[in-house]
Amino acid sequence: MKDCWIAPSILAADFARLGAEIETVLDAGADIIHFDVMDNHYVPNLTIGPMVCQAIRDYGIQAPIDVHLMVEPVDAMIEEFIKVGASYITFHPEASKHVDRSLEMIRSAGVKAGLVLNPATPVSVLEWVIDKLDMILVMSINPGFGGQKFIPSTHDKIRQIRQMIDARGLDTRLEVDGGVKIDNIAEIRASGADTFVAGSAIFGSSDYVATLKAMRAALKTV
Ligand code: DX5
Ligand code: ZN
Repeated sequence: MKDCWIAPSILAADFARLGAEIETVLDAGADIIHFDVMDNHYVPNLTIGPMVCQAIRDYGIQAPIDVHLMVEPVDAMIEEFIKVGASYITFHPEASKHVDRSLEMIRSAGVKAGLVLNPATPVSVLEWVIDKLDMILVMSINPGFGGQKFIPSTHDKIRQIRQMIDARGLDTRLEVDGGVKIDNIAEIRASGADTFVAGSAIFGSSDYVATLKAMRAALKTV
């Protein structure tokens, strides 16, 4: 399996001090910045868009940015996020009429592409496109809000997708988003994930360095 990446979700950061928050969390050892885009249509919440991603790049952040699109439709936002320096763009297949085409838009721009599976989305949605995915993002909560509880059946789904990736000898990253904490991250790794989104667990803690350290230590036990 791939090296573990910890992906702080800036949804839980202090938006009034976003650049500094990202710097702090990167200095604390984060691998990639998770950027949640919500449109008050595909999901009930409304967050940040391409202008904020541009602002983060202009501020000087060079770390990879993992854009999680919770918008419908997706293609126009894919184009915008390509322009503002997204490293990964993932979207929900339910939100695109032509999933393969949307993936192709991302890939042809040289950006890494991924699909996101909601708790009720079957893994079969991956079957005919899995070789085109750099990332598969498994939602362990219903998308829209941070601070929700990890849904336990996610473990079975992670195991199934891990098998699909390995059976095909693919290099796809397997990311989990929602309710990831210090005390369950090892179990999630054991099920087969390699990329861990954590919002409230990191930004809600008083010491980001200590929290990231504790997460890494837990991952090492697997
Ligand atoms: C929710 C977002 C998540 C969210 C996770 O729709 O996709 O990335 O920030 O938050 P926590 O880690 O607090 O569950
Ligand atoms: Zn997310």
